Amino acid sequence: MERIKSLKRNVVIVGELNVDLIISGEEIKPELNREKIVDGFDMVLGSSSAITACALAALGVHVIFVGVVGDDYFGEFCIDKLNNKGVDTTYIQKLSTCKTGVTLSFSTSKDRALLTYMGAIPGMLPEKLPAQLLKEADHIHFGSFYLQKGMQTYWQQLFADAQNAGVSTSFDTGWDPEEDWKVDLIGRLLKYTDLFIPSEDEFRNIFGGVSDQNIFEKLPMERKEIAVKCGDKGAILFLRNKVIREDGYSVHPIDTTGAGDSFNAGLIFAYLAGKRGTELLNFANACGALATLRVGGAEDVPDLEEVYSFMERNKPLLQ
Ligand SMILES: Nc1ncnc2c1ncn2[C@@H]1O[C@H](COP(=O)(O)OP(=O)(O)OP(=O)(O)O)[C@@H](O)[C@H]1O
Ligand SMILES: [Mg+2]
Repeated sequence: MERIKSLKRNVVIVGELNVDLIISGEEIKPELNREKIVDGFDMVLGSSSAITACALAALGVHVIFVGVVGDDYFGEFCIDKLNNKGVDTTYIQKLSTCKTGVTLSFSTSKDRALLTYMGAIPGMLPEKLPAQLLKEADHIHFGSFYLQKGMQTYWQQLFADAQNAGVSTSFDTGWDPEEDWKVDLIGRLLKYTDLFIPSEDEFRNIFGGVSDQNIFEKLPMERKEIAVKCGDKGAILFLRNKVIREDGYSVHPIDTTGAGDSFNAGLIFAYLAGKRGTELLNFANACGALATLRVGGAEDVPDLEEVYSFMERNKPLLQ
């Protein structure tokens, strides 16, 4: 496998921003009228899009973040953290009409439960996109389809324009708190999406299970590459007429927050570097697995050298 050396590309991320307040330990389930003591607490930059942005910047691409926050301390915190990771924050606007969003994350070593106060997140609207967006981008990504409500019906137009301009595209759905899943909107968007990157649960809720038959029957014909994230089982890549399954790396996770978003960064990075199929999935799996070894998502994001040295030290399971 030939290593990617470096990559000079501009990735624009149109994203939601919020802080994550992470409560960690094994006994973290809140119960009404009870008080429990937990093992750990952290305040970190949250949001799928922001974690993907930081992870991509650490890998060495130029990341431009477009989004909105409230005009408050948490908003400043988000912008500072992105800047510290080398993300270009020129196009982040502060809205005086709402507060920055907050996610409370109850995290065990295996999984997590999230409670989100949306704040400014739905306040990202098509008219806030910079006019020269497509000129500055080699690739456009967004996270949290269901939370970025102000953009939901516009993505198709943006991605169609991107496709015409030779700009590649990707998105991650995240969980739908309303559990409506908007299968028609997602299905239409896939036509213009180079990389669709849901988790297995999200995919099941939108299109039914991940059986090969289901995929080929239910997904629109014009779809491109779809990478479904399967936690410790690794990931599955659905091409137009072929399915590639790659096992995950063997790790002892500390906090799974941001594994999916780091996987996204790895997938986008390797894709822009020309990797496809097994190599593409392996690189993304390594980025996802590495993210489980640190608390939060955007902190201590690995550079390219660290990802490759992890891949050398840890072979995927069952190989
Ligand atoms: N326990 C684990 N062991 C090895 N790899 C893991 C583990 N958990 C996650 N990964 C890697 O990270 C990827 C993304 O994780 P996961 O499938 O949990 O996504 P997600 O549910 O979208 O995560 P997130 O909660 O961060 O959005 C997986 O496809 C896998 O490559
Ligand atoms: Mg996810």
